[in-house]
Amino acid sequence: MFAAKKGDTLCVFINGKKVTEDHADPETMLLSFLRENLRLTGTKSGCGGGGCGACTVMVSRYRPTTKTIFHYSANACLLPLCQLHGAAITTVEGIGNSKTRIHPVQERIAKAHGSQCGFCTPGMVMSMYALLRNKPWPTMEDITQALAGNLCRCTGYRPIVDGCRSFCQESSCCQSNGDEKTTETKHEKPRLFDQEEFLPLDPTQDLIFPPELILMAETANQQTLTFCGERSTWVSPASLEELVQLKIRHPTAPLVMGNTNTGPDMKFKGVLHPLIISPSRVPELFEVSLTPRGVWVGAGCSLSEVRCLLEKLLLEFPEEETELFRALIQQLGNLGSQQIRNVASLGGNVVSAYPNSDLNPVLAAGNGRVSVVSGGGRREVPLDQDFFVGFGKTLLEPEEVVVSVFIPFTRKGEFVRALRHAPRKEASFATVTTGMRVCFSEGSRVVQDISIYYGGMGPTTVSATKTCKAIVGRPWDEGTLSQAYNVLLDELVLPPSAPGGKVDFRRSLTLSLLFKFNLEVLQKLKEMVKPVIYVAFIAICRVDPTVFFFFFFFFQNVIPDELPEKLLPLPGDIQPSLQEFQPVSDSQSVHDPVGRPMMHRSAVSHATGEAIYCDDMPRTDGELFLVLVTSSRALAKIINLDVSAAMQLPGVVDVITAKDIPGKKERAMFGYSEELLAENKVSCIGQMVCAVVADSKAHAKRGAAAVKITYEDLPDPIFTIQDAIEKSSFYEPLREIERGDVAGAFSHVDQIYEGGIQIGGQEHFYMETQSMLVVPVGEETEFNVYISTQWPTLTQDAVAETLDIPSNRVTCHVKRMGGAFGGKVIKTSILASITSVAAWKTKRPVRCILERGEDMLITGGRHPVLAKYKVGFLNDGRIIAADFQYYLNAGCAVDESVLVAEKILLHIDSAYSIPNLRGRAAACRTNLPSNGAFRGFGVPQGLLVVENMINDVALVLGRPADQIREANMYTGPSATHYRMEFSPENMLRCWEDCKVRSDYNARRRAVHQFNQHHRWKKRGLSIIPIKYGVAFAESFLNQAAALVHVYKDGSVLVSHGGTEMGQGIHTKMQQVASRELHIPSSKIYISETSTSTVPNTCPSAASFGTDANGMAVKNACETLYQRLKPIREKNPKGSWETWVRAAFFEKISLSATGYHRGPDLYMDWDKMEGQPYAYFVFGVCCSEVELDCLTGDYRTVRTDIVVDIGRSVNPSVDIGQVEGAFMQGLGLYTLEELKFSPSGLLYTRGPSQYKIPAICDVPLRLNVYLLPNSHNPHAIYSSKGIGEPVLFLGSSVFFAIKDAAAAARSESGLIGPFSLDSPATPEKACLACASPFIQKIPASEPGSFKPWALNI
Ligand SMILES: Cc1cc2nc3c(=O)[nH]c(=O)nc-3n(C[C@H](O)[C@H](O)[C@H](O)COP(=O)(O)OP(=O)(O)OC[C@H]3O[C@@H](n4cnc5c(N)ncnc54)[C@H](O)[C@@H]3O)c2cc1C
Ligand code: FES
Ligand code: FES
Repeated sequence: MFAAKKGDTLCVFINGKKVTEDHADPETMLLSFLRENLRLTGTKSGCGGGGCGACTVMVSRYRPTTKTIFHYSANACLLPLCQLHGAAITTVEGIGNSKTRIHPVQERIAKAHGSQCGFCTPGMVMSMYALLRNKPWPTMEDITQALAGNLCRCTGYRPIVDGCRSFCQESSCCQSNGDEKTTETKHEKPRLFDQEEFLPLDPTQDLIFPPELILMAETANQQTLTFCGERSTWVSPASLEELVQLKIRHPTAPLVMGNTNTGPDMKFKGVLHPLIISPSRVPELFEVSLTPRGVWVGAGCSLSEVRCLLEKLLLEFPEEETELFRALIQQLGNLGSQQIRNVASLGGNVVSAYPNSDLNPVLAAGNGRVSVVSGGGRREVPLDQDFFVGFGKTLLEPEEVVVSVFIPFTRKGEFVRALRHAPRKEASFATVTTGMRVCFSEGSRVVQDISIYYGGMGPTTVSATKTCKAIVGRPWDEGTLSQAYNVLLDELVLPPSAPGGKVDFRRSLTLSLLFKFNLEVLQKLKEMVKPVIYVAFIAICRVDPTVFFFFFFFFQNVIPDELPEKLLPLPGDIQPSLQEFQPVSDSQSVHDPVGRPMMHRSAVSHATGEAIYCDDMPRTDGELFLVLVTSSRALAKIINLDVSAAMQLPGVVDVITAKDIPGKKERAMFGYSEELLAENKVSCIGQMVCAVVADSKAHAKRGAAAVKITYEDLPDPIFTIQDAIEKSSFYEPLREIERGDVAGAFSHVDQIYEGGIQIGGQEHFYMETQSMLVVPVGEETEFNVYISTQWPTLTQDAVAETLDIPSNRVTCHVKRMGGAFGGKVIKTSILASITSVAAWKTKRPVRCILERGEDMLITGGRHPVLAKYKVGFLNDGRIIAADFQYYLNAGCAVDESVLVAEKILLHIDSAYSIPNLRGRAAACRTNLPSNGAFRGFGVPQGLLVVENMINDVALVLGRPADQIREANMYTGPSATHYRMEFSPENMLRCWEDCKVRSDYNARRRAVHQFNQHHRWKKRGLSIIPIKYGVAFAESFLNQAAALVHVYKDGSVLVSHGGTEMGQGIHTKMQQVASRELHIPSSKIYISETSTSTVPNTCPSAASFGTDANGMAVKNACETLYQRLKPIREKNPKGSWETWVRAAFFEKISLSATGYHRGPDLYMDWDKMEGQPYAYFVFGVCCSEVELDCLTGDYRTVRTDIVVDIGRSVNPSVDIGQVEGAFMQGLGLYTLEELKFSPSGLLYTRGPSQYKIPAICDVPLRLNVYLLPNSHNPHAIYSSKGIGEPVLFLGSSVFFAIKDAAAAARSESGLIGPFSLDSPATPEKACLACASPFIQKIPASEPGSFKPWALNI
């Protein structure tokens, strides 16, 4: 153990204020210090592992050697407080606020409608702010790079990009939708925001770097710094000598630089380091020295610094000498996020020896080496195959310190390339990554030397030595390479159950990346060889003209001319896009905000970090923190629960088990019951068993880790849908619906096709995890529950039942949620019930904030679906009969699965009139965490199946799918398969409009042309309609209430039953109240949703929130306005304030409730008919993608959406919903993959493993048009609900990928229907393309191995 002296005092400046800390704990990260110690809660926690960017801050430091100040963005969740001695930190609170002055970045993101739930907004603001501090006139590329590591689950990024784009100087940048500068359009079309209002960027307003820190750095003492924490000590030596001595004494202590490897290990794997060494003050680790053979770069340099250095050297040295530099720059542009690269060190990356490190294969291929020092002296070690000895292990001795890394120059004829493929283009570890170097002598094609290294192909960076041997000494040509592919295939073999899965895909990637390298080398050779041969050619032709034909052949065949096309990367520039909506009528009062784009009422608070979410609430006296203990077995008896060790730990106050629950221990649904805490048996990994409460989160976590549960495994857990079908493991009732005579109709058709598709689940990934604080009031068992839920009443009921107290003792308060998407209803009420038991038992406030990993493990998500269908159709494309069978993986509790199954069946007609139609759906009971509501409630899965069937019909008939869609669409007065009448007119208008706006027919031809000229890249186009039913089929849920108070000063407080989760419901309610009371919306305030102001509310769900609550608010306001009528008549010229005051003195009540009794909807499943929806939302979406058939990488080049939402109450909010839902759908269908182990453990428990769309996934053009002249008599002000429907339109990208894959397959002679399951990840898309490389991979015998992940 380190002989610790009394710790030093840490000094850091935060937002210009000096903060000193005598007890800086090495285990404390800046994020918790900011939030818990300094109460700076603007910086958010979304994942805790560097993967989401919600915690972004700016770090500034002074460098005495160059006397410069430098600024960089960083993830506060991975920044150890102790590392920040001498640094200045700027958080979102430090750059502007609503009271004094907001910063232009905050203003522009807010006014461009770049915030919805606002949870990601402070992080976005800070990433952009840090960029502007370094580069006040950024390019679009700078902006997309800066924001690549910031996730947003709500907006779809387009409005954030538009707000940030306004800082660019590029010519096209000002043409964003917000502010089209063309005189023609400027006054014709309404705009979402006005760029002219924006504050100019004024760097003089920025905080200055604290002079005290400059002085401190200039006079830095050479003393060791030590910080002592509860369990760990931090030592920061000031010299290399001292560092070496420390390492001799403590060889196993980690050297923490960026903490991007050590930090996650400590946090997520519970690794404890009693001593941590921070070499960040050792100058040698930051030195750069140039030699004639290359450059030595200090191992402590951050990856961003390395990139800057290499970019600078590119300008100073000839191109041929900097091949390796360029390859590294290429990798550094894609590695992690900007925030990660700004702190992660070069040495840290090398020594961490990740199997898929992006740098190591390139450094190894390029003959890099490291210089290491230890007690035994210095040595240089080559970075070659011997260096990487195992997972995360190198051949270095534990006490050795890497001082610098050598990056050699290349020579003429030497080419180095880095190629990688990742599940998401940015901020994602690579699936396979490679560094390849080949060396030719001048003018020759014969390979002198070659080295090829891969990452992602085993536990270490691996060398393809045999492949290299097969190439060296031979000419670089078709023959050599085709042999090399075969050798490579044998050399880099992955067992079928290799960790990480994707075995066939990874193997094929090794080949296709080598093929890509081949193309690049051929290109280079062409440049290199041509001039030499050309000189010879001219000379020889002069002597013997017949030689001409030989050279002609050489140029045309050996190094073909069409090469450059194949090397082009996928397009990547995000273009300005269009958002069109209908203006309000000229006769509408300018004070009436309804129908106008109005900024989210909390947008400025979001952007300044002032918005309060549940975990931002100040700690209350005696507050405890609750951490759940979950099952590690999928199906087992609980034999023993031993909490004794946990109870001994510091800070632990209690452990809550099922026995502690005073009231109902279970919640019932559809005749099934779900235990709040498992007592005797567990049915999935992640099921809650007990909960530890302690005086801090850290203590509660340690307590939870110490709880010992003994299990006895039960036989035959069921995980997959296939298993469930075999064992008939279903939740009752199984549903069925039929119209016409399906069986009979199949005998009257031209063709029958049977197909199917599997659709993966989806994690909600709301940026704010499940959060709640239960506060006992202290008398008469009264509780205040502050919670992030979509349905406060359900939580109130659940807490009351659990504690066995009346509902009138429980008040639920919901200020706002950081996103919900259906995931904050049922599970939230269960979590609140458990937390309330802890508060009740300990009589103290208890806070429960799930970590991202826990949230993903426990709460479930969208149902995976397996569907089969049989379709009968005529040769002209008309579908006569269709029969669907759906199976949902519901998990271990029924939750809302039966309702989800029902909603799927109610949408199987989609936009089509199929005379004979049948659907059956079964919710499968499995031993996985239970799935439930998720935006769209099953419709996104259900409709994908229908559209896939249509696609199959098109492929069978060899016709474009849009023609089959058109041939079957509803026309004229129509009735659904459950006999609900409706008019499809607006759907058909959307269809036509979308075809025109997207220039569909011309682009279809252009796509065909493109595909004819490209072998390895294909384009795909698709156009998809939707008809989506709005409101609850469970009629009682179609009601809402509101309470409106007018105070004597004229200010108005509106309360209603809807909850704000980013969808802008409070903004819309403010608009409604403003119109009805005839007052500016600035006089209206909405504080929260509370069960004490509006009781018995319904969930904010089913896209029905605005419809129902809007009517209730309207009703209350009408009552109040009516009450003021006599006063107004008496004093018609008076102001609102005078009327209100007069009314008070005349004893007129200034408070009113409003109520809306919604439509009486129903569905009779026995009769198979009903009126389950109030109306339909229609929309059509056209998307085009470009697909790299060698890697499955794709980019959506353009998307056009036309959607009918009646008359929008707030076009900016509604367009935000459309874009956000579309992007969530794009994630569902093309990106997001849940992976479960064969024992039922969810692997994907954070943003590092589970990829939601990031800024790199936004279509390069995303145009949204709200259908004009649409009216809806069924909802407020003729509007329509829009939260859910558009999610399905993300499937247009899926079908565009499928279209591109079909084009690729046709090159190999594969025509007709083929299987592509959802999500169409690069892996699946690539396999579907059936390239020659894919075909080379021998298929593993199914059943002969245990796959790494289950196909659930
Ligand atoms: C969200 C996220 C995304 C990422 N994406 C990628 C990616 O796409 N590609 C990729 O390649 N990497 C990626 N990484 C990994 C990242 O690049 C490495 O974690 C990082 O480079 C390690 O450097 P560090 O300074 O943070 O190391 P630290 O965490 O500080 O230290 C890591 C280890 O290295 C040792 N060490 C550090 N410096 C030295 C030294 N000078 N001498 C001897 N030992 C030393 C330490 O003892 C410790 O064991 C990602 C990481 C995160 C968190
Ligand atoms: S919370 Fe820090 S990156 Fe997610
Ligand atoms: S606004 Fe970005 S996550 Fe909600």
